[in-house]
Amino acid sequence: MTQVPFEILRNDGKSGQSHFQSFVVDVEENQAILTALLKIRSEQDPSLAMRYSCRQAICGSCAMRVNGKSRLVCTTMVGPEFRAHGKIRIEPMLNQMVVRDLVVDQTPFWDRYNAVQPFLIHDPSHPMPEGKETRMSPEQVEQFYETPRCIACAACYSACPAVGSDPEFLGPMALAKLYRFTVDPRDTAYHQRLQSVQNQKLWLCLRCNLCVEACPKDVRPAERIVDLKRLAVQEIGTPEHGSRHAQKFLTNIEDGGVLNETKLARETLGLFGMLGQVGKGISMMRHGKSLKKHPPIQGVSEVKAIYADLNQPEDLKGRQRPAGKGVKGGEQ
Ligand code: SF4
Ligand code: SF4
Ligand code: FES
Repeated sequence: MTQVPFEILRNDGKSGQSHFQSFVVDVEENQAILTALLKIRSEQDPSLAMRYSCRQAICGSCAMRVNGKSRLVCTTMVGPEFRAHGKIRIEPMLNQMVVRDLVVDQTPFWDRYNAVQPFLIHDPSHPMPEGKETRMSPEQVEQFYETPRCIACAACYSACPAVGSDPEFLGPMALAKLYRFTVDPRDTAYHQRLQSVQNQKLWLCLRCNLCVEACPKDVRPAERIVDLKRLAVQEIGTPEHGSRHAQKFLTNIEDGGVLNETKLARETLGLFGMLGQVGKGISMMRHGKSLKKHPPIQGVSEVKAIYADLNQPEDLKGRQRPAGKGVKGGEQ
């Protein structure tokens, strides 16, 4: 047994005040943090509120922040956290209101999930054959094999800075679910689904990959968002700022080897849109940022060579889903 110090963020759910409370608990280093928390609750403070159920990474109830990272406490072991930090600090998940101690109100998380219509939408004139299986090709299954692993734990939602900064953003799990139904060959709402997010809802993702790091089931939501973006641009084009910005960013660097911010803003927002950015431009210049056109960098041909290399079929294959027969967004 090792004596492990814990700092747990307490909140009685009434005063609105939070404070860290220290505990020391005797646990084996190969035990789960949840086991240590239950020991604290049974031996030291029965008022400690937390959520858990299955204790084996299935129910998705026990996500909390462990030493600053969103984790399932039933599968995060005491030893590595204790050795890396000398203590274990436990806080409730972010981006959701605390109900009490480590329990949060998950309503915003589930609202976003429901907003993407997380179910198959069928064409009523072609109902699924009753009592019969609906076969899929390996390529079709390959499109979404990670997303059904999601256990709706909200660890990715807690880790996501875009959720925290913009209520419009649907968050990693909801977008991963949306992707899963968009590419499902049985679903008939392909265009509508992409249309519904080909706006800021999709493009607010910062590509920080924190959701990938937090996900205990390797759903890799940020990658599913990239897949969705690719399909959305292919199906709907670039009618709004987010997708245009991403596309122009790419060509901007390819052309000059360096970002030309004035050109990027003009190509993203258009001339009228630029007028609304005059204040921001002046503020940038006041802070010493030059908006002059940069001359192409030396060796721009090498940048172009990197782009050409990245667009080789072999390289694209590593980054994109295989496009087989019957695969949505691929050959039909
Ligand atoms: S990659 Fe996007 S969705 Fe994932 S945490 Fe970062 S901002 Fe959120
Ligand atoms: S995508 Fe991963 S982290 Fe997010 S809710 Fe699903 S299982 Fe949890
Ligand atoms: S207790 Fe069920 S996922 Fe941790």
